[in-house]
Amino acid sequence: MSFDRTIKIAPSILSADFANFGAECEAIEAQGADWVHVDVMDGHFVPNITFGPTTCAAIRPHIKGVMDVHLMIAPVDPYIEAFAKAGADVITAHIEAGPHIHRTLQAIRATGARAGVALNPGTPASAIEPLLDMIDLVCVMTVNPGFGGQSFIASQIETTRKVRDLIGNRPIHIEIDGGVDPKTAPLVAQAGADVLVAGSAVFRGGSVSSPDIYGQNIRAIREAAQGVYV
Ligand code: DX5
Ligand code: ZN
Repeated sequence: MSFDRTIKIAPSILSADFANFGAECEAIEAQGADWVHVDVMDGHFVPNITFGPTTCAAIRPHIKGVMDVHLMIAPVDPYIEAFAKAGADVITAHIEAGPHIHRTLQAIRATGARAGVALNPGTPASAIEPLLDMIDLVCVMTVNPGFGGQSFIASQIETTRKVRDLIGNRPIHIEIDGGVDPKTAPLVAQAGADVLVAGSAVFRGGSVSSPDIYGQNIRAIREAAQGVYV
């Protein structure tokens, strides 16, 4: 996994067909997805349940590129090893998920995975300041986590700008998660984001039997973020 700040589109399989993850991952990668974003929810930290490390291990062989695992679970630490063994390239934990985010990030890096920290919309950008030398990614949540298809929270554009300033020259990705579509993508790209997660805006209208729609949706987001309006 090399580092750069070019725009990367990370479809969230939360909006995919849950009975067909392998084929869905292959379809989005063939249609231009840069990363595959995997939303793990526990029904405790967030009010929804998705799946765990066994499912991640099952889909891993169907992903050629980066498997980006977003943990919306509490506690996090007892499960880090399992997600790393499942083949996660990036493991992101929420700063709000427990009292020991510093220890959690150390534990993620100790597995060899990249470490991400996610910020809910109620958490200030400054919360990442003590963590800057131990993270590879900051995930700015632009919805309250738990569900796909929610509206983008515009006040998070300013949070993204602040995160970008705090990062300076460090090789840390800024990922945006929630309500990203061709309208909101340019706003967060201008604020400094480079990884754009999108669930409904990628999967809407398509399927594994009509994957071209995924490709059109991915291109529309990327081109909007890059400032090319089609
Ligand atoms: C929300 C998840 C997101 C979600 C994004 O808790 O972390 O990844 O799937 O979905 P959209 O793009 O539909 O807002
Ligand atoms: Zn997510």
